[in-house]
Amino acid sequence: MTPYPAAVPYGRLLDPAHRPDPYPLFAELAREPVRRIDEHVWAVGGHAEISRLLRDPRLSAQEPAVPGPDTPPGSDGNPFRGPFLRQDPPHHDTLRAQTMHQFVPRILGLRPKIEDIVTELVDGLDGELDVVSALAYPLPVAVICELLGVPRSEEPVFHDFAARLTRALDPQESFTAEELADVAKTREDWRAYLTPMIVQRLTEPGDDLISGLLTDGDPAERMTMVELATTLGLLLIAGHETTVNLIANGTLALLRNPDVLARLRADPDLAPAVVEEVLRFDPPVQLTSRLTTADVRIGDTTVPAGDRVLLLLAAGNRDPRRFEDPDRFWPERPDNRHLAFGSGVHYCLGAALARIEGQAALTAIATRLAAPRLLADPPPYRPNTILRGPAELRVAVGASAWAGSTPARPHS
Ligand code: HEM
Repeated sequence: MTPYPAAVPYGRLLDPAHRPDPYPLFAELAREPVRRIDEHVWAVGGHAEISRLLRDPRLSAQEPAVPGPDTPPGSDGNPFRGPFLRQDPPHHDTLRAQTMHQFVPRILGLRPKIEDIVTELVDGLDGELDVVSALAYPLPVAVICELLGVPRSEEPVFHDFAARLTRALDPQESFTAEELADVAKTREDWRAYLTPMIVQRLTEPGDDLISGLLTDGDPAERMTMVELATTLGLLLIAGHETTVNLIANGTLALLRNPDVLARLRADPDLAPAVVEEVLRFDPPVQLTSRLTTADVRIGDTTVPAGDRVLLLLAAGNRDPRRFEDPDRFWPERPDNRHLAFGSGVHYCLGAALARIEGQAALTAIATRLAAPRLLADPPPYRPNTILRGPAELRVAVGASAWAGSTPARPHS
């Protein structure tokens, strides 16, 4: 249960009861260009409006969170302002550029490795299984460890931190006091866990991403230790739960639409289109949030400076003014420019990697699992509002899966 009052529309958005199917609520909120959902909180659900606002510099990604008294300043000399996802230009751009410089070359060429990991995870799966714990969760953790140059023995620790850090992304209004304290403790634990790893690479740099961030470029502009730990945490959270949800939501969509599953099985070249449609139809990141730094006009309404604007990516992806038959899962749809990776200066840094992981995982589901069938529909969901996805996805696999069962019902 969220401590937020369910009577206001914002409370309804935070209410976990909507997780299995939030789309009717999103459609309702998107009926007007902008809708006030609490005293200082507004929701925007139109594709055109969201695209425009994500590029509007009067909307700030900076959270009002104050750094702890002991946190040293950032590498620009200003007070530390959190992960660059939650910073504005110009310092956002510096930190993002440094990260991209290390990240992009390392993901090129990673596809065969990712396909090997998927094969390792999927081969031999038979009987009843949970796709989330068997494939969706372990794949992104293994990939992040590979990228950061962290041994696979550390995967369980990364896995645990990813889950704890992810909760910290949800709107703070949905937290109990206990959860707020846990978020602060998790951040401290994460820094304490990474420090020896960073120190070791300072003395003996390798060819991994952490060593690259520590040694590349002008020493005067390099990230501070806190910025580095925060950036690694950002890559872990941003790259983990999101991809878990992409694979789980994609599997669910395929099993609810056996005709698409059969087409993908017959033609794995359909995988990129299937992944784009999953990203549109059931996006892993449902919304993002900004604060207005000036009065901003949206439609006929003026949103005053200092208010919070929720950009409902999931609603924009089903905007009937932008997408024909938006509630239909249709990989072949033309001009599928969805908002799942955001837009503007914060456009997802890991989009290419997420696409490779999603394509490898969904192709394996379609081609390597014999007659997969959903055992619970809808599946149970985690409570998270922003990074929404199934807690588990129970599936029966193998020839026996067909015996005495009705195939999964088609969904549109
Ligand atoms: C399906 C998977 C993914 C989805 C749906 C997704 C979605 C998003 C979205 C919507 C944003 C923008 C948020 C905003 O504007 O407030 C974002 C930013 C970001 N994503 Fe992803 N992401 C995914 C996978 C990844 C992966 C695999 C990584 C890296 C390992 C990653 C790293 C990042 C980073 C670092 C940012 C911040 C960019 C910035 O602020 O400049 N993401 N992502």
